Amino acid sequence: MNSTIFRTENRPVAPVERFRQPADIIEALLQSIQGGESHARPTLELTPESPFLPFLEIGYALRACLEKPACHDYLLQRLRPHLSVMVGTLPASIQPLGMLPKLAPLPGFRKLEQISDDELHHWLIQEGGLIYGEMQRFELENYFDAVRPHLAPGGIMVDLGSGLGKVVMTAALTLSFSRCIGVELMNYRHRLAQERLVRLLTLTRQGLDALPTPLKPDTPLRLPSGQMVNGRHLLELGARLVFIENDMFKVDVRGASLVFVYSTCFGPLMDALSNKLARELPEGALVTTTTYPIQHPGFQLLETHAPGTLSWTSVMIYRRVGPPMTEPASTARYLHHPDADAWEARARAEIGGG
Ligand SMILES: C[S@@+](CC[C@H](N)C(=O)[O-])C[C@H]1O[C@@H](n2cnc3c(N)ncnc32)[C@H](O)[C@@H]1O
Repeated sequence: MNSTIFRTENRPVAPVERFRQPADIIEALLQSIQGGESHARPTLELTPESPFLPFLEIGYALRACLEKPACHDYLLQRLRPHLSVMVGTLPASIQPLGMLPKLAPLPGFRKLEQISDDELHHWLIQEGGLIYGEMQRFELENYFDAVRPHLAPGGIMVDLGSGLGKVVMTAALTLSFSRCIGVELMNYRHRLAQERLVRLLTLTRQGLDALPTPLKPDTPLRLPSGQMVNGRHLLELGARLVFIENDMFKVDVRGASLVFVYSTCFGPLMDALSNKLARELPEGALVTTTTYPIQHPGFQLLETHAPGTLSWTSVMIYRRVGPPMTEPASTARYLHHPDADAWEARARAEIGGG
C-alpha cells in the first residue's frame, strides 16, 4: 500500500501575475484548466447525419413516455430489467435539462413499444457513460503522486473518455510524458478540449516570452511533482498534447505506458474495456480506474485507494502482466444491483414531482 500522505482539499492559490521563472508558467497553466465541471452542456444536434442518431431516437421515445402520465407505468416496466446498468434513478438525458434537443422527433423515429430490450439496455449503458465529471486539482495532484513511482520517465499517457482535457493537460504539465493523448466521444467536449488547448498554448507562449531569461531546450527544470525535466517540457508542450474525437473502443492504445480511465460511470463497460486493454497493452503498462475495479488475469492490482483518500471515489492502479491476450478473459459482472422496489418508489416520486 502506498504510504503517501494525500491532500484533502485544494490549497488556496493566488493568480500568477508575473512570469519570473518556468514554475510560474506551469502554475498559471494549471490554474487555467480548472473548473471544467461546470461547463454549459449543449444539447445534441438532431440531424440525420448525427453519429448519435440511434441514441437520440431511443432517448426521444423514453422522453415521450416520461412526459405522458398515462405512459409512466409502461416506462418503469421497461426500465426495471436494466437497473444494473442505470446511473441515477431516471436517465439524466431525458429530463428537462438533459442533452436531448427540444425539437420535434425526426420522421421515422420509433416509439418505445417498438424498441427492443436489448437496444434499451445498450442505450442505458451509453447514457450512463456520457455523464461528465472531473477530479479536482488536489485529487489529480494526489493521483500523479501515486502513479509516478510506478512509471519510467517519458512514455505515453492516454485518457479514455477525456472530456474537456483536464487530466491530459495536467499529465503533460506534471510528469515527463513524451505524449499525452485524450480520446473523447462527444463532439462538443472534444471541441472544448481543443479550444482549451489553444488557450493553454497561447498562455505558454506569453509566459515564455515574459521570462527574464529565455528558457533553453536543455535548461534543467524541476516540475512541481519533483521530477526533473528540461526546457523542452514547456517549449514543446504543444507537440506533447493530442486530442482525438472517437469512441475509445475504436482507438488502439498499444503504445501507452499509462491509461487513465475515470470509470465511475463505466461499470457495464468494464469487462469490454479490460479485454481491450489486455489485448493491446504491452506488459508493464499501467492502467488506473476509478470506482470500478478491473477483474482480469492480465492485470495485477498494485494499489487501491479507498474513497476519501486519494480522491472522493476509489482509485485502483494496475500493471499489465503476462503475454498479449487475444481471448476475452472476463465475463459480464455488473457490480450494481439496486433493490428494484426501492428504485421504483424513488422513480415514481421523481416522476410525480416533475
Ligand atoms: C467522467 S468523464 C471524465 C472526463 C475526464 N477523463 C476527466 O477525468 O476529467 C467521462 C467522459 O468519457 C466520455 N465517454 C463516454 N463513453 C465514451 C466512449 N465510448 N469513447 C470515448 N469517450 C467516452 C464522456 O463523454 C465523458 O466526457
